[in-house]
Amino acid sequence: MTRHAFPMIALHWLTALAVVVAYVSSGDPSKASHALSGQIHVTSGFAVFLLVALRLPLRLLMGVPAAVPGPRWQQRAARAAHGALYALLFAVPLAGWAELADKAHAFSVLGWALPLPDAGALWVRALGAAHTTLGDALVWLAGLHAAAALAHHYVLRDGTLARMLPRRG
Ligand code: HEM
Ligand code: HEM
Repeated sequence: MTRHAFPMIALHWLTALAVVVAYVSSGDPSKASHALSGQIHVTSGFAVFLLVALRLPLRLLMGVPAAVPGPRWQQRAARAAHGALYALLFAVPLAGWAELADKAHAFSVLGWALPLPDAGALWVRALGAAHTTLGDALVWLAGLHAAAALAHHYVLRDGTLARMLPRRG
């Protein structure tokens, strides 16, 4: 196996798109002045969660290609960054859900009343308070990760980026 399986490639790029949409639409969704951006933020944020919840079991089933040969430190850094990205892809939407419970008594998304956790619970307050910081961390790390992918392609000229792109022709 030299490239990522097509479903994994599709899930990678859909997740990246959903993260960008969630970030660009971020603000306080419970504020009336953010009605539209709030709907977009919560919907795209939940999409991130659903996509990663589908992606991890599929990754176990389909596997991933062996690391592109390179210095050990690069392989370790890539593994650590990918692990942290996966953790944040789960944690950021969950923390957003907790933050929403803290900010709003009720919230409807696409006309559906969202079940919210108990805003008084300690874990909800702690996780909710971390949402903005974790969201920023996810976007910064994804930016570094994208820069590393571009460096592989244009500086090291190896196949790292190509194997995460759909095969042409
Ligand atoms: C990957 C997905 C997400 C990212 C990257 C993200 C990112 C952010 C960021 C950076 C902010 C701060 C905006 C600012 O203060 O200018 C924010 C605010 C907020 N987000 Fe998210 N978010 C995501 C998903 C969610 C989800 C799924 C929910 C709710 C279910 C949510 C609820 C909130 C709430 C309530 C705020 C307002 C926080 C406040 O004003 O204190 N977010 N988000
Ligand atoms: C929010 C945006 C992004 C997130 C959350 C993200 C997340 C991830 C994760 C978790 C992996 C590990 C896949 C696995 O082994 O299961 C990965 C792989 C990869 N990503 Fe991203 N990514 C994002 C954006 C980008 C961008 C913009 C690029 C290119 C410019 C990119 C290029 C790659 C490449 C080439 C791989 C495969 C690395 C390899 O095969 O060794 N990613 N990404």
